[in-house]
Amino acid sequence: MDTIILNMSPKGNSKKSNSKIICEEFVRCMEKPCEIINIANSNLEQTSQYITDFDNIIFALPLYIHAMPGIMMEFIEYLSPSNTKNQSMGFIIQAGFIESAQGKYVERYFELLAKKLDYKYLGTVFKGEAAAIYMFPRMFKKVLSKFNELGKLYEQTHSFDEEIVLDLGRPYELSKFKAHLYQLLCDIGLNNIGWHRMLKKNGAYKKRLDTPFL
Ligand SMILES: Cc1cc2nc3c(=O)[nH]c(=O)nc-3n(C[C@H](O)[C@H](O)[C@H](O)COP(=O)(O)O)c2cc1C
Repeated sequence: MDTIILNMSPKGNSKKSNSKIICEEFVRCMEKPCEIINIANSNLEQTSQYITDFDNIIFALPLYIHAMPGIMMEFIEYLSPSNTKNQSMGFIIQAGFIESAQGKYVERYFELLAKKLDYKYLGTVFKGEAAAIYMFPRMFKKVLSKFNELGKLYEQTHSFDEEIVLDLGRPYELSKFKAHLYQLLCDIGLNNIGWHRMLKKNGAYKKRLDTPFL
């Protein structure tokens, strides 16, 4: 059974793409590692034709504004229904914020998409709090090893291991106590320290409240 993995991040094969890092970790210990295509560095139409012969397709994407990146929406326009009706589609989402609940709308869409294209739906894996993986890979050793395990088991079963999916998806929602704590950090501005530093470094700090489209 052949699986193709598509990195849907607009960062493509940049070292700063967390989706790319996760795709590579997913296949790293496979006996026969799956091919990975960085969609941003490919011709969308040609890639959509190339993947039609694979038994399984795994889309790995970052969450952008609680949705999929624009390049993925564009790519979906090129997809055609399954040739055999025995093919499968699965999704791996990673995102900056902690709660995996924010992925529930796009997950519903992915399930429908698979159904509409006559693919079996393998499910959606969601990992929050993942934005800093490329900056501090050592800090994310445990998370990356879970993706590694997920990939190894996927190679044997062609499905996503339920326990690992549950584990990666925690927390689904923050407890009330934690939500209040984060609110407090926001109120006193602690959550913005790193972000503001980056804006200043890029000369964008003074423009951060601009509303160019109003
Ligand atoms: C324009 C933009 C929008 C984003 N929107 C969200 C969001 O709605 N929720 C979230 O949890 N993270 C959001 N993020 C954070 C990304 O999901 C996160 O940084 C991810 O690891 C990026 O993956 P990549 O490096 O493969 O592109 C956003 C990032 C960008 C640049």
